[in-house]
Amino acid sequence: MNRIKPLNINLLEQKLHPLPLIKNVVYLDEITSTNDLAKQISAEKSHHGTLIIAEKQTAGRGRKAKNWFSLPGKGLYFTLIIEPPLVPNLQILTLGAGVALARAIESICALITGLKWPNDVYIYNKKAAGILAESITRGTKSMVVILGVGINVNHDPQDFEKELSGIATSLKISTGKVISREDILAEFLRKFTYVYQEIIEGKASQVLKSWLNRALYIGKEVTVVKEKTLITG
Ligand code: BTN
Repeated sequence: MNRIKPLNINLLEQKLHPLPLIKNVVYLDEITSTNDLAKQISAEKSHHGTLIIAEKQTAGRGRKAKNWFSLPGKGLYFTLIIEPPLVPNLQILTLGAGVALARAIESICALITGLKWPNDVYIYNKKAAGILAESITRGTKSMVVILGVGINVNHDPQDFEKELSGIATSLKISTGKVISREDILAEFLRKFTYVYQEIIEGKASQVLKSWLNRALYIGKEVTVVKEKTLITG
């Protein structure tokens, strides 16, 4: 039986206390997709630093128009809305979010992680977390970056649908321990704040270096399927 223990928002807010980037936390039992809500609310006015967390998503989305399976009580599904200054190399921010996620998992779970382009987090060759980054440009003066993060935290092997069982993992499966969702989320936000600061201070090359240090498949021959054709390189 899947006993749902909701996220402890008071505990999370305590852990986030000295984190000026996070201005507002919205916690929902259920939503279609936290990214969809983030896009809707950002279209009208500034929501810089708003964090939207949902226990369950009925239409969670992944990259390349895939569904993101959202199991209540076991995973983390959240979106952070950021309105960064338009500094050079801002595009590194989405890779930076992957670096922050990898660092958070490494520090809370004592695991080695790898990053698969652009920001999927892999542990022992299986995917544990992913990021759907979307942006809204408002004229030439401002840009909203929507970072939707999904993490398989306390999933057991039987929680994954059949087609995911060989390719997905969770932090619990990888460590053999139940992992605090509040700890992972707070640590991600701390690590992301650091990366964000580096990028807006013009140190994007440091963030890129951290991404490259974890990059999977660099220097290896890979085969991809593009429009039903296999391309090796
Ligand atoms: C991927 O690996 O393809 C990206 C997955 C991103 C999933 C998260 S869950 C929270 C947010 N809301 C969504 O609908 N998607 C992202």
